[in-house]
Amino acid sequence: MQPENIDLVWVWSKLQAGIKTNKNDYHLMQLGYVNESNFPKIDTVVFRQLANRHIYFNTDFRSHKVQCLQQDPNVSLHWYSKEEKTQISIQAVAKIHHLDDVCREKWESMPLLSQECYHQVGNPGESYAADLATFDLSEKDAFENFTMIACEIKKMDVLLLRLGDNIRYIWSEGDDALKRVMA
Ligand SMILES: Cc1cc2nc3c(=O)[nH]c(=O)nc-3n(C[C@H](O)[C@H](O)[C@H](O)COP(=O)(O)O)c2cc1C
Repeated sequence: MQPENIDLVWVWSKLQAGIKTNKNDYHLMQLGYVNESNFPKIDTVVFRQLANRHIYFNTDFRSHKVQCLQQDPNVSLHWYSKEEKTQISIQAVAKIHHLDDVCREKWESMPLLSQECYHQVGNPGESYAADLATFDLSEKDAFENFTMIACEIKKMDVLLLRLGDNIRYIWSEGDDALKRVMA
C-alpha cells in the first residue's frame, strides 16, 4: 500500500535506491530535452548520482545531446517504478562537466569496463564504418570524451498510484516541503 504522506526525504531515498543497483526501477531515467529544431527528444540514461539536489548522468562529449544541452540546458527527468507504482517527474537545468575535477575524480574510480565506450573511435551518430567501430582511442582521448551532466532540480511532481485514490505531491525550488495537490 502506498503511504498517504510522503516528504522530500522519502523521494530522495527512493531515487538513491536506483543508483545502487540496476535491478531497481529507478536505475534508468528518461531524459527529455529539446534539439536544435526545437523538437522534444527523449533518451534513456543511467541515473548515476544524487547530491545537493543535483541528478547526474554520464555521456560522451561528442554526442548530439551535449550539443543540444549547450544550446538549451532545460531538461526533464522521468522515472516510473512499476514495483512502487510511483512516477517521479523532475524539471531541471543541466550543467556540463568536462575535463574538470568532478570528471577526473569519477573517471579514476570507474571500472575499466565502464570506461570502454569512451574509447570508441567513431563519434556517436556518425555514419557506420568498421574502422570507426573499434575501441582504440588512448586513455587520454577517452577521458576527453567522458562527460558528466549535473541537473539542478527546479521542480518535482510525484504521483503515487492507488486504486481510485491516487496521491500527488509537487515541489518547486525554494519550497520547504512537498505540497499535496489533487491527482
Ligand atoms: C538502457 C540504456 C541505458 C543508456 N544509458 C545511457 C547513458 O547513461 N548515457 C548516454 O549518453 N546514453 C545512454 N543510452 C543511450 C541513449 O538513450 C541514446 O540512445 C544515445 O545516448 C544517443 O544519444 P545522442 O543522440 O546524443 O548521440 C542508454 C540507452 C539505453 C537503452
